[in-house]
Order: sequence, then structure tokens, then C-alpha cells
Amino acid sequence: MERLQKVIAQAGIASRRKAEELIIEGKVKVNGKVVTELGTKVGVSDRVEVGGVPVERERKVYYLFYKPRGVISAVSDDKQRKVVTDFFPFVEQRIFPVGRLDYDTSGLLILTNDGEFSNLLTHPRYQIDKTYVARLNGIPQRHLLKRLAEGIQLEDGKTAPARVKELSVDRKKQRALIEITIHEGRNRQVRRMFEAIGFEVQKLKRERYAFLNLNGLNAGEFRELTTHEVKQLRTLAETGSLR
Ligand code: URA
Repeated sequence: MERLQKVIAQAGIASRRKAEELIIEGKVKVNGKVVTELGTKVGVSDRVEVGGVPVERERKVYYLFYKPRGVISAVSDDKQRKVVTDFFPFVEQRIFPVGRLDYDTSGLLILTNDGEFSNLLTHPRYQIDKTYVARLNGIPQRHLLKRLAEGIQLEDGKTAPARVKELSVDRKKQRALIEITIHEGRNRQVRRMFEAIGFEVQKLKRERYAFLNLNGLNAGEFRELTTHEVKQLRTLAETGSLR
């Protein structure tokens, strides 16, 4: 049995706080009857409705996916391009990506049908580290990388401090591989950060998300997260550390 507000939040309909408001306002029904009591618990066979719309009560699933380049981080695309959920044809649950990677970015992406979990991981207040490897069309000098690490002014404000490491440079081809760890998730943030110091990102891959990596997976493959990993991600988002 689970608390009604949790069931509504997990379905991705509203935050837990908002779900409580909906309950108090009399917008929630259980088995056809309005329920305004906040502590109410419901089982899997109870029918829950919010504003007359039934709440889906699927088993919660969590996947770690190695997104290839050239795929949209969405569940559908009006231009018929490939989307991440095309790689999960046998998953019955209605999963969606947690946050997004650009069409041209490859790497680690989590997919789930747990709306509350997704909100927790993507909320700007909770800061999950994300590590990217960028291939640049040139070799940035140390002082420029330091500017990225300290935070750099972008159109939408200064970025938070980042960890930046030069992995390798190819002087002949005049390019560099730079690892960068950020915890914000602004649109095209890594590409824009490098643009701000005068470099173009030719290739971008997300190697790590919190303590998770892509070990054992090829592009286009996925695995289920373990119960322990899901719990750890929750703890990390909520408290900023693993207890
Ligand atoms: N930063 C980017 O520029 N692109 C991504 O896909 C992710 C982070």
C-alpha cells in the first residue's frame, strides 16, 4: 500500500506537494469516491483518478541506456527521426528519458516511467554530477580551461564551477579531448561553454552520470538499474551525498 499523494507524484501528474493540494481540493477519487484525507493509502488494485482522468499504475522500471549519436531524447518525433524509446521495443511500460542529450551527443541516459524520480534527478536544486568527454577543433590553453572550471558567462547566466581535465591532445590534427564534469543541465550547456572560450565541440559523449558509467554497454544497448542504484540515486539527489 502506498500513500495517495505518492502514487499521483510517481505517475508524473504533479509534485507530491501539488498532489496533496489536489487531494485537499477534492479533485482525487479512489474507486469512484472523492478522497480528501491526506494519509489515505491505496493498493495496486485501487482505481485512482485525478480530475476525472485515471492514473496509470505501472510497475516502476529504470534503465541505463547508451544513447547513440543521431537519436532524439524524446518518446516521439514529428519529423519521424529515431527516438530513444525506439531502442526499447519490448518494454511495455511507458518510459521516457530523464533529462536529455542533444541529437548529436552520445552517452549515458536514464529512462524510466517514474515521474517523481525523474523530477528529483532533473530539478536544479539537486545537483547530480554529469561527466562529458568533448572533442574540440583545437587545443585550448590552460588558462581558458581554468575559466571554464571557475564558471563562465553564458547568455543565460554564469555557469557553476566545473571540473575540467585535458585527456589528450593531437598536435598534428590540432584537436583535443577534454573531460568536463558539470551538475547543471542547461540546454546545450557543454557545447556553449566551449564556444564561450572559442572552440567548437566536434563530438560529445556523456561518460558518467553520478556514480554510473557505460561499462559493458555498446551504443544502442541498455541495462536495468539495480534497486540499489535507484536508491542511491535518490539519496544522492536528496542529500547531495551517499550515506
Ligand atoms: N551539453 C551539451 O551541450 N549537449 C548535451 O547533449 C549535453 C550537455
